[in-house]
This record gives sequence, C-alpha cells and structure tokens, in this order.
Amino acid sequence: MPGATLLTGIGELVTLDPAHPGPLGILPDAALLEVDGRVEWTGPASAAPRDDADEVIDVEGAAVIPGFVDSHTHLVFGGDRSAEFEARMAGRPYSAGGIRSTVAATRAASDEELRRRLAGFVRELRAQGTTTFEIKSGYGLTVEDEARILRIAREVTDETTFLGAHVVPTEYADDPDAYVELVTGPMLDACAPHARWVDVFCETGAFTVPQSRRILEAGAARGLGVRVHASQLGPGDGVALAVELDAASVDHGTYLTDRDVELLAGSNTVATLLPGVEFSTRHPYPDARRLIDAGVRVALASDCNPGSSFTSSMPFCVAVAVRDMGMTVAEALRAATLGGAEALRREDVGHLRPGARADYVVLDAPSYVHLAYRPGVPLVARTHVA
Ligand code: NIG
Ligand code: FE
Repeated sequence: MPGATLLTGIGELVTLDPAHPGPLGILPDAALLEVDGRVEWTGPASAAPRDDADEVIDVEGAAVIPGFVDSHTHLVFGGDRSAEFEARMAGRPYSAGGIRSTVAATRAASDEELRRRLAGFVRELRAQGTTTFEIKSGYGLTVEDEARILRIAREVTDETTFLGAHVVPTEYADDPDAYVELVTGPMLDACAPHARWVDVFCETGAFTVPQSRRILEAGAARGLGVRVHASQLGPGDGVALAVELDAASVDHGTYLTDRDVELLAGSNTVATLLPGVEFSTRHPYPDARRLIDAGVRVALASDCNPGSSFTSSMPFCVAVAVRDMGMTVAEALRAATLGGAEALRREDVGHLRPGARADYVVLDAPSYVHLAYRPGVPLVARTHVA
C-alpha cells in the first residue's frame, strides 16, 4: 500500500527489535510509521514523526504485535473427519492412515470447491492475526492432484510445500518404493515449479528414513528448501535426517530423544511444535522448555488440517504452549512470530524492525500477555497485511 501511515496511541508495541528492551523489544506508549508497506520507524509516541504521515491512526492504548507466521498448514483439501475426531475423544487412537480418507475426498473435489474452502480458511487466519502462512500439498498423491493443490495454494501464498510423500496411497500399498519413484520423478517435475519447499512425513506407517532421504535430496536438487515431519507418533531418525540435510524446520517433535535435542541445538534447523496436534490426538504435548533450555530455536504453528489438528488459530496455539508446554508467554509469542519466520528462513516478517513488512495485529487488549491469559477470546481487533 503506497503512502505513509502513523499508527499511534499503542499501549504496548512488541517489535522483536533487539534495539528495544527485553526479549520481545517492547515499547510502551509507542508509535509505528509505515511507509510503502514497510516499517520505517518505531519509538515513543511523543517522538513520532507526525509530519511524515499522510494518515494517522490512534489505537487508543491497544497492544500491537507482529502478525503471526504460521509455518505449517495443509489448507487445500476436501471432506471432513469430525467423526474420526469424535471417536478419538471416546478413546480411539489417532492413525496416520486417516490421511487416505482426505485424499479420496480431495481427489473428488473440483478446483472451485477447493478454492472456496481455502478462501474461507484464509479469512479465518486473518481474523486470528496470521499474516504469513505456508501451505503443503499432500492430499492428492497423484501427479495431477499434487500439482493442482500447489497451484491453488500458490494463489494465496508464496510459501508452498510439496508433500507428495505424505503417506503411500492405497493404489501403491503393495509397492511403496514404486511410489517413491513417482514422487522423485514425474510428481516432482510437475510440482517443483509451484513449490518453494519439499517435505516428507518420516514416521512409522508413512516413509522410512532411506525413502525420506531420497525424496528430500531429489527436491533439494531441484532447488527446493527442505522441511520434515518427524517424531510425531514415536521416536525415530527423522530429526537426525533433517539436521543432516540442513532442513529449515523439523515439525512435530513430540517424541524427541536426548540425541535429537543435542543435534537440533547444534544446527540451523528450527523445531516447529504443533500444539493443535496433541490437543486433537491426545498424545503428550512436546516439551518446549527442554528444547529452549538446550538452545534449540522453536516455532509454533497450527498444522491446520482435517485429521490431526483442525484449528487455524495461532492465539490458541500460544495459549496451549504456555499452559502445557512449559513456555513463557514471551517465548510463545516469539515462537509464533519470529520463530515461524525462522522456520521459513524469512527475514522480512515475524518482527517489526525498520525494513520489515508492516504486517501487524492490533489486539483488543492492553498487553500481548492476554493472548494466553484470555484463551479462546477473540482478541484480534485488526490484522494489517502490508
Ligand atoms: O501434520 N503428520 C502428518 N500429516 C498431518 C496429518 C494429516 C492427517 O491426519 O490428515 C500432520 O499432522
Ligand atoms: Fe503437517
């Protein structure tokens, strides 16, 4: 948006700028000048460069935070799995096999149907303060359907991820390696032009470490960045593989060994934790405290998908992470903003330092702490996407 806008009357501005105090770089009684969609200046409202602004907006004491960066979603799909959720809440275990029912529904859905649902999810994200979001494929599992999902996802975000290796589809059940051939050959050819990242579900019941390695290396050779789903349902070697391949992020991390934590701490790989999954599958929440204390960089994301985590709400993830994963409110907010940006290897979002995209959220609250203090309450007054 061209022009200069001064946001003033900010009771508490979370900048995540190391030039400002504390781990979140918080300024009380602050203002923010946006010029041509970028943060030009932040500082005390009393020192705001009012004359430089074409427009002045007074938020009357509200807290302002960077927009949430949701680095892990699966938002292009058909169908509904509420019956599966209901059965789980009555004691049935989560099974990765449920993915195949969404695959059938997604293949049967028209482009228009997928687009219409996606538009609804994007409205949900915005209403809850998310300004940057990633979308994975993975519910098509044919060359045409995976490419179609990525094309549709690309219409709403640049952060698209090829997850042809989500599970082995039914038609390849007897020959999973033939499916890996398809993924690393024709499917990658069709999908790479629409994707920034490649991902694999490296887990018992999905893909083995050698299969995952082949797929990730093939994607990397095509210029895609690497991300990995690992250690969601039990411990395994997926984290070590992710670190070895310098993945931007390894996601889930519910069952981490001491060795995994040590490897992550010495790497450039972010551990992206997905509280909505444990909420919805009744697995134990991942131990964020253990990771942070070991020096691992942590992100929070929604993993919004119809099977394991059907929430699009980053404030919900923040509240659960604080209540049940050992994070302070400041750590959880950082993980949901700057942490997500790190998991996407982006420097222009997730903070409000000069030069950043002016993507911010005005809260209907005097402090960011209310995000965890008032769980389930719609506290996003306005989401601004520059
Ligand atoms: O990230 N872990 C694998 N994939 C999804 C689950 C998808 C599903 O159950 O449909 C996830 O949790
Ligand atoms: Fe996922």
